[in-house]
Amino acid sequence: MKNTFKAVPVTEDVWWVGAIDWNIRDFHGYQTRRGSTYNAYLILTDTVTLIDTVKAPFREEMMARIASVIDPGKIDYIVSNHSEMDHSGSLPEVIAAVNPKKVFASAVGAKTLKELFSIDREITAVKDGETLSLGNRTLTFLETRMLHWPDSMFSYLNEEELLFSQDAFGMHYASLERFADESDPAILAYEAATYYANIILPYSPLVLKLIERVTAAGLSFRTIAPDHGPIWRKETGGIIGNYAKWAAQKPEAKAVVVYATMWHSTEMMARAISEGLAAGGLHVKLMSMDEVHRSDVVYELLGAGALAVGSPTLNNHLLPNMADILTYLTGLKPRNLIGAAFGSSSAPLSAPTAGAGRR
Ligand code: FEO
Repeated sequence: MKNTFKAVPVTEDVWWVGAIDWNIRDFHGYQTRRGSTYNAYLILTDTVTLIDTVKAPFREEMMARIASVIDPGKIDYIVSNHSEMDHSGSLPEVIAAVNPKKVFASAVGAKTLKELFSIDREITAVKDGETLSLGNRTLTFLETRMLHWPDSMFSYLNEEELLFSQDAFGMHYASLERFADESDPAILAYEAATYYANIILPYSPLVLKLIERVTAAGLSFRTIAPDHGPIWRKETGGIIGNYAKWAAQKPEAKAVVVYATMWHSTEMMARAISEGLAAGGLHVKLMSMDEVHRSDVVYELLGAGALAVGSPTLNNHLLPNMADILTYLTGLKPRNLIGAAFGSSSAPLSAPTAGAGRR
């Protein structure tokens, strides 16, 4: 069959050679309604370099995109910015197929890749701030530990002021538009925020430090090329500004009321609490765990100043869908929220109407 997978030029020397996952709907607990992309990039300079790979089942798509611009056997270097399997799953097979001169990763990344895949060759560990000559271009590596794994790093193509930012500044959004400036701004705003809330939020203090660091170093970014979703070019300040805002978690006049309910008693309480908060001047988002996904709740909490959670008692515990969101939030560690809990544990306040079941 004719190869329809083509590389997409990002700059004169850099090509997108990733894969589009139209069907993924769950990303470790985060509902990805619009699918995702696994972005990999080819730098066609004196030393041909591949930045990251793709999730294992998408290897052939990536190799076909590479082959649309160069013989994959001509790849000299592979840089692994992040060893989570959505970016490294195909790495062992790509290494075997391409036999690059060198493979680079952070020190933790080199160790992680060896452990994950038993890769039988040297992976060169690079240090924070180290540079790598690609002949007529230079890469600088920036360690970004915990964004989103301990191994994570950015690679910066100095001459083009292009940042390969792996998970950071990305979003789960499958589309045929490769650039943010070609995409629907409303979708970008929603998906970038949802991604931040569900993936990056616990590392917000590190995001603030990173922004401070690159600002102090005077680095500028003409292009930000993340490992998921559209590439930011033309205008990169907006997404960086949003990261600074989301990471600060400055509370606004907004409350999120989340509830699970059995026979409507807790629902009635949730509605009364919401009316009261709104009457007090807050913007209120009322969310039933029977109707929303945990990812939606976390999205709404970006910028909120208060969270009230409610559940009835079931067998001396919470309803399972309330336990679900509370467990998720424990890991994501949202900050600067005033918290409140409410619930019911006795007979229903009013008899359920005909046809009404558990809600
Ligand atoms: Fe897209 Fe942390 O992997």
